[in-house]
Amino acid sequence: MGTSRMFRIFVVLGSAFMILLIIIYWDDVGASHLYLHTPVSPGPKVLHPPSQQRPQTSRTPSFLSDIDAFVNQFLEPGTGEPTDPALTDTSNQSEKAEERYIPRREWKIHLTPVAAELRERQEQRRRLLQEMCANDSVVFPGKNRTFDDIPNKELDHLIVDDRHGIIYCYVPKVACSNWKRIMIVLSESLLQDGVPQRDPLAIPRDLVHNSSMHFTFNKFWKRYGKFARHLMKVKLKKYTKFLFVRDPFVRLISAYRNKFELRNEDFYRRFAQVMLRRYANQPTPPASVDEAFAVGVHPSFSHFIQYLLDPQTEKDMPFNEHWRQVYRLCHPCQIQYDFVGHLETAEEDAEQLLRQMRVDNVVEFPTSHRNLTASSWESDWFSTVPVEARRELYKLYEPDFRLFGYDRPESLLNE
Ligand SMILES: *[C@@H]1O[C@H](CO)[C@@H](O)[C@H](O)[C@H]1NC(C)=O
Ligand SMILES: *[C@@H]1O[C@H](CO)[C@@H](O)[C@H](O)[C@H]1NC(C)=O
Ligand SMILES: *[C@@H]1O[C@H](CO)[C@@H](O)[C@H](O)[C@H]1NC(C)=O
Ligand SMILES: *[C@@H]1O[C@H](CO)[C@@H](O)[C@H](O)[C@H]1NC(C)=O
Ligand SMILES: *[C@@H]1O[C@H](CO)[C@@H](O)[C@H](O)[C@H]1NC(C)=O
Repeated sequence: MGTSRMFRIFVVLGSAFMILLIIIYWDDVGASHLYLHTPVSPGPKVLHPPSQQRPQTSRTPSFLSDIDAFVNQFLEPGTGEPTDPALTDTSNQSEKAEERYIPRREWKIHLTPVAAELRERQEQRRRLLQEMCANDSVVFPGKNRTFDDIPNKELDHLIVDDRHGIIYCYVPKVACSNWKRIMIVLSESLLQDGVPQRDPLAIPRDLVHNSSMHFTFNKFWKRYGKFARHLMKVKLKKYTKFLFVRDPFVRLISAYRNKFELRNEDFYRRFAQVMLRRYANQPTPPASVDEAFAVGVHPSFSHFIQYLLDPQTEKDMPFNEHWRQVYRLCHPCQIQYDFVGHLETAEEDAEQLLRQMRVDNVVEFPTSHRNLTASSWESDWFSTVPVEARRELYKLYEPDFRLFGYDRPESLLNE
């Protein structure tokens, strides 16, 4: 009758509510202690040198700057006395992997705070983003939508690390390989002889960019079903979110050099052939990149810009990620980034960021010795591009310039 039925409904609703709570909070519990990320894939055999330990700073409790970190070190359950990695890592290489694997939980203790001007610089970059998102004179497609309106497939650049509570939006041509390497190290998803790979540079290049190595937001559906959006929002609220950007025009030069000046079969077939056909009077361009290089045929930088400006390009498919605007990759008006790095100040920013995320004890940003595209080359590169096209190109990338504080390149646009 009425009462028992009411009681049963009450019990069922109560249980459902409890289960919901467990699902929601499970992940937060998991964030620090459980493996909740992508299936671990055993990496290829790469020699794994004993990881180089940085000498630990003084262990005496005389530091006051990082009290928080210090206290946390003892609150971390399961370890008891922190093990000194400097002692454990000198052990015999051929010992069993499990014995070598000592989770590093110690915080790196800093005796000096982050320099005031660095903190101020971050503050300014974040404030600028907020202002530009609120400013109606900055207009771009998708600016006004809510996070829920962003299609799932557009969330494929947000890499999540539950272990440390970090979300990284990767922008190709902006030190993205190095940061992807760091995300792989942090997530401990690449095993090397049963031990998580800890050296970012030891990760083979093809694995770094293999999407199966990264747990991105667009994969949440598969794992969490209809809770996916809710979980994303919980994580966006709690985790540290960062991205790296660079001058948009310099990024385009870098993309061109990397994809069309070097032999790249994939990009040759998908893009270079199209450019040659459309803009270089070559109805039948060479069939492969090797043939094209042999006869010295490749699209010029000017052809590349023409391709970007051609309305047909976006009709065929959205811009390739190497030249897609950052606002389309990372949704800076829907996601409140905690840290905005600039490639122009990459090393300082990386040091500050790793420290801020409290993972500078685990990983170091690899210094790059490559021949980076410099902004001083800009005027040379654009000398073959008509001024009218430069202005149109600026319009196409203007939101990126404004959101991230890059000046309008007046000298290029006012000739
Ligand atoms: C490490 O162990 C191997 C055999 O297990 C032994 O031959 C080698 O001498 C040991 N090396 C050191 C440094 O103890
Ligand atoms: C919005 O941007 C314009 C420049 O395009 C600037 O003049 C204006 O002051 C900005 N508005 C606000 C509220 O910041
Ligand atoms: C976004 O909303 C503002 C008013 O809040 C409007 O002026 C602007 O045109 C809208 N932009 C887009 C791209 O819909
Ligand atoms: C990515 O890695 C997975 C397994 O780790 C492998 O099966 C797949 O072929 C790789 N994809 C590419 C494009 O290398
Ligand atoms: C870097 O590349 C540019 C053009 O691609 C070249 O002119 C320059 O000599 C290179 N610099 C180094 C140090 O390799």
